[in-house]
Amino acid sequence: MTRHRQRAQLDREALHLAPGASEETAVGGRVFAHGQGAVLTDLDGNEYIDFAAGTLTQSLGHCHPEVVEALTAQAARLWNVHDAATEDRDELLSLLARLLPEHLDTYAFFSTGAEAVEAALRVVQATAPPGRNRIGALRHGFHGKTMGARMLVHWDIGHQAFAGNSVLGYSPNCYRCPLDLEYPSCGVRCAALVRKHIAEKPNVSALVFEPVLGAAGVIVPPPGYWEQIAEACAANGVLLVADEVLTGGGRTGAFLASDLLGVEADLVVLSKGMANGFPFAVLAGRAELLRSPAAASAGSYASTYASNPLGIAAARATLTVIERDRLAERAKRLGELLGERLRALQARFEHLGDVRGLGLLYGLEFVTDRHSRTPAPEIARAVYTTALDQGLRTAMGGHILRLAPPFTLDEALLDEGVRILEKAIEQVTA
Ligand SMILES: Cc1ncc(COP(=O)(O)O)c(C=O)c1O
Repeated sequence: MTRHRQRAQLDREALHLAPGASEETAVGGRVFAHGQGAVLTDLDGNEYIDFAAGTLTQSLGHCHPEVVEALTAQAARLWNVHDAATEDRDELLSLLARLLPEHLDTYAFFSTGAEAVEAALRVVQATAPPGRNRIGALRHGFHGKTMGARMLVHWDIGHQAFAGNSVLGYSPNCYRCPLDLEYPSCGVRCAALVRKHIAEKPNVSALVFEPVLGAAGVIVPPPGYWEQIAEACAANGVLLVADEVLTGGGRTGAFLASDLLGVEADLVVLSKGMANGFPFAVLAGRAELLRSPAAASAGSYASTYASNPLGIAAARATLTVIERDRLAERAKRLGELLGERLRALQARFEHLGDVRGLGLLYGLEFVTDRHSRTPAPEIARAVYTTALDQGLRTAMGGHILRLAPPFTLDEALLDEGVRILEKAIEQVTA
């Protein structure tokens, strides 16, 4: 694989570009030139099957023709009129009302996941009864890098200078149980402890959670986890705020992962799956919260790019295709296939300690050996770079690779991607 032009560009960039890129970008060292469907091409003409779908964003694949058409038409028409209505907005609102559960019938629009998480926190604070001044979150959850969102993040991911006063609950990490128990004999004790905490602490206003924890390595809760917690929140007046920035939009095989897992959230934050990679985010919620005078005073959901016409056009086109072509169902079916293939790899390779996922979202944990389960970031990194050199792009962080291909991927490319991954693990661990 030739990389002359890319290396020359990256050398030039390094003179002025602030370091601090993601681990996968820094280690990958690629300059991508264009993308079509599930395939990316770099500056030197090398091709990659993109099992990371941009950054878990391009559910329809790169440059989907209907999204390109909607965006280019909008780009030639109108770019920014603050948060004033434009032609597509009412269509997008109706689409969301059809795709989301009935009780989530009110929406506000933003540009990034963290910005919409912040808006959700403001709604919680504005509507919380007096004295409920704490917000609960899960250990190893990730909610963004703005100050409010970061207060909910208590582990070293990205820059972690400051973490505030959120209350933490155990996440359902069965492979690395924080309580050293085994499912199902544990009786889902992690959830019972979160439940206890919620029942005993009268000052918690909301629990902010990822239904499936994404950045932590695709942690899928065992049956019973969310049921217990949701019940405790409902019984104690604690709002459920689902951060579906990563999982929302069909990725887990249903439009919302929380819906699939039986949690009726009061507020839901969506972003990555909304506009096929264009910056866009949605805060969806119950009318009584998002319309409450305390939360919805003049300007409270407005910002320079909120309700941006370009984002709205991209989101409307993306969600139209997802609904029309029943792509959440396709994600579920392809996800089952991918899961089968990945479990076969796990059976074959000692260093592939855990494979878990839901829909088209998988996490692969690399370990030094099955018994100790010691994380092996050097193996994950080598598998990542070897696969990249052979034409497969994945998402890497620490000792975990995440796979989240576009829902439109065809089965032949799915198989080809898994073959490249298998060869890469074989080479690295031989
Ligand atoms: C679950 C979750 N919440 C929030 C965010 C932050 O979104 P953004 O990077 O768009 O601010 C992310 C980003 O990966 C995420 O995965």
